[in-house]
Amino acid sequence: MLIAATSGRALAAAARRTGYRPLVADFFDDGDTRILSEANCAVAGDLGSGFEKAALIEALESLARGASPLGLVYGAGFEDRIEILEELARRWTIFGNAPEVVRRVKDPFELAALCRSLGVRHPEISLDMPHRPRNWLVKTIGGAGGSHVAPAGAQRAESENVYYQRVASGEPISFLFVADGADAQAIGASRQWTAPTGDEPFRFGGSLRPAECGPRLEARLAEIATAIARQCKLRGLNGIDFLVDGDEIVLIEINPRPGATLDIFEDREGSLFQAHIDGCLGRLPERPLEFEGAAAAAIAYARRPIPCMPTLDWPDWAADRQKPRSALNLDDPLCTVKAHAALPGDARKLIAERTAFILDNLEHIGNGAAS
Ligand SMILES: Nc1ncnc2c1ncn2[C@@H]1O[C@H](COP(=O)(O)OP(=O)(O)O)[C@@H](O)[C@H]1O
Ligand SMILES: [Mg+2]
Repeated sequence: MLIAATSGRALAAAARRTGYRPLVADFFDDGDTRILSEANCAVAGDLGSGFEKAALIEALESLARGASPLGLVYGAGFEDRIEILEELARRWTIFGNAPEVVRRVKDPFELAALCRSLGVRHPEISLDMPHRPRNWLVKTIGGAGGSHVAPAGAQRAESENVYYQRVASGEPISFLFVADGADAQAIGASRQWTAPTGDEPFRFGGSLRPAECGPRLEARLAEIATAIARQCKLRGLNGIDFLVDGDEIVLIEINPRPGATLDIFEDREGSLFQAHIDGCLGRLPERPLEFEGAAAAAIAYARRPIPCMPTLDWPDWAADRQKPRSALNLDDPLCTVKAHAALPGDARKLIAERTAFILDNLEHIGNGAAS
């Protein structure tokens, strides 16, 4: 199975658990992606500039050569460049939403209209900078990872395709579900947190399940997801981001592909990735997926530049492991830290401890305490 995403590791791990042999094209080429993949390829470019069509196609063509892949699963990295998805769909069977579906749900005005038609609250949006920018955010159309979200007054490059969105109150809750083109089945709700930097106040930090937001609210989130899946003919794994304040629910975006919460909804049997493939083929799981205890995953960002990544003895709870000798800038992702516990609070605490351990350890090594 071909996998294309800014980081393909979580999809590769999920595919492997289900028994597929992943052929992965991404920007990171992490140490664990190499091990999980049947073959993998680092695509020229980076998160900042995003995928360039020719480079990505070349990488995927070379992975597919002689392997006759069943098809292609895409993750993050294409919502602001639908033309690449269209090209992928011409070459391979896509297990995921059709390009025109992605275009629709990522168009801010289409999304606003969809929410209106379903009676779901959505923050006011504007293509022009609001006269009074207080309480407004600027976002890139099709952006992901939170780094593109900033207060409306923030400086943005002329070339960036931005829109403005009014600030809403509430806690970020993401709802993961699987769809079959007509109906949807809930997988679960999770909580997100940010890892702010000076100019990226909403950079993605991590996520935690279960969200413990109560059965009534979860039922309402599932109802919204089902209505949207029906209207948009969604397929496979999808997520919807909400802000939740008591009984008030505001929908802020749809992620029309498997995304950031794959790691916390993983199971040993690989039913998550299978649900994605089956959903794309028009079948929902016979029984709802079930998950024990609590799980969390967060990104550990470099606290300072690392000119030459040392060889680390990575703990098994670290994923997306930067490979030795790579050069990292301040705030680059160093790895993903994962934790399981009986209770969500304990999973979150473990994450904090493990993140500190990795970052402290790295500084120790960087100071010459180990070779
Ligand atoms: N309208 C809003 N009001 C308040 N906070 C918001 C709003 N939109 C986004 N955010 C914050 O920014 C984070 C990322 O926003 P989101 O639109 O989901 O972008 P991304 O696609 O990068 O995930 C959210 O989880 C939330 O914390
Ligand atoms: Mg989001």
